Amino acid sequence: MKILVVGSGGREHALVWKLRQSPRVTKIFCAPGNAGISALATCVKISATAIDALADFAKAEGIDLTVVGPEVPLALGIADHFEEKGLRVFGPRRNAATLEGSKVFMKDLLEKYHIPSAFYATFTDREEALRYIEKQAAPLVVKTDGLAAGKGVVVARTIAEAKAAVDLFMKEKAFGEAGSRVVVEEFLRGEEASFLAFTDGETVLPLPTSQDHKAIFDGDKGPNTGGMGAYSPAPVVTEPLHRQVMETVMLPTVKGLAAEGCPYKGVLYAGLMIDNGVVKVLEFNCRFGDPEAQPLLMRLKTDLVEVMEAVIDGRLADIALEIDPRPTVCVVMAAGGYPGKYENGKPIEGLAKAGQHQDVVVFHAGTAVKGDAVVTNGGRVLGVTAIGDTLQEAIGKAYKAAEEISWDGCYYRRDIGRKALARKGE
Ligand code: AMP
Ligand code: GLY
Repeated sequence: MKILVVGSGGREHALVWKLRQSPRVTKIFCAPGNAGISALATCVKISATAIDALADFAKAEGIDLTVVGPEVPLALGIADHFEEKGLRVFGPRRNAATLEGSKVFMKDLLEKYHIPSAFYATFTDREEALRYIEKQAAPLVVKTDGLAAGKGVVVARTIAEAKAAVDLFMKEKAFGEAGSRVVVEEFLRGEEASFLAFTDGETVLPLPTSQDHKAIFDGDKGPNTGGMGAYSPAPVVTEPLHRQVMETVMLPTVKGLAAEGCPYKGVLYAGLMIDNGVVKVLEFNCRFGDPEAQPLLMRLKTDLVEVMEAVIDGRLADIALEIDPRPTVCVVMAAGGYPGKYENGKPIEGLAKAGQHQDVVVFHAGTAVKGDAVVTNGGRVLGVTAIGDTLQEAIGKAYKAAEEISWDGCYYRRDIGRKALARKGE
């Protein structure tokens, strides 16, 4: 079986790594891929958003299954386009991917189907948004309707900050059209968790729980990033909370989407806020999380090709996931300056040594090959991922391997997983 993976991040490296383990897979291509992926797959120089070129490539190469990593091609309708061309693709169609592509669509759907989330109001008029904000109490959260590479959310501590966010999105148009509509919503307190599930539009098959670390600095300080580390499972999601998430969030969302004529097939990712035993939805993503995919796929024992085919064919009810009971953790190593300005092209040392550590996989994100060297090529550069008998052990292994690796300006958080350890009393 020939597979094409679309994307170039740590998530896509983990997908390629996992798909390679399937006895049915003979060849994997990745467009555009990165240095780490090129050791496992043939990288093709096609951008993840060049949908026509990707479909032409898949046709010409006789690709049996295309797996889409990032949200942008999904929001652009890559799944619809591939289906029209008779190509098999894993990922939701454009109308279902709108769940991530439009916060207004998402919030309206949640409201209609009584799925718990923050109170909100939506605006297309800047003056109206500003007048509304003046009547609210801070903190407030202001979000662009459309995709903004994770930068379209401002958690405003004051009314002035919330108004400045509206101006950034609607007046300065920092994210173009994405900010022509904004959502202003209630600030939710609590602890976040990521809840990912496979769904074929009917059956919802949850992956283990996980938790991301969004802020750049230890102790969840500083600006938000794409994610600085993740672990699985997330002890904040207890058994009763897991049931609550399935019954009040995942199943009604999948049913609601189907009822709206947007049946969802793929991985559905709910970003949750948990406070005092109550779950609310912060966001939905229409894909695997990055970095959550790295620790999750390390725990998945079931053949990923089997699961993906069952999703596409609507047979997910026949599938059970086999999960390694041992916890996993991913420590993201980033370029100095990220999530602000940073430099590319720094040679990375110690990759071979780190790769020899037992129970550790170094997933690449922003890396490229330059001559004989592997160099940095993005904000998030590597995701050092480890499995252990306890979370403490997994954390120890990941950091030990990370210490082998260095480049000019290399930065990573030192407290990945600490919250879970505190909760478990480890
Ligand atoms: P989103 O992309 O909507 O998940 O927002 C990114 C991050 O902003 C989330 O992971 C939270 O850390 C934070 N956030 C978003 N919405 C809220 C909210 N209503 N209350 C508190 N924090 C939020
Ligand atoms: N780790 C957050 C995301 O993938 O959106």
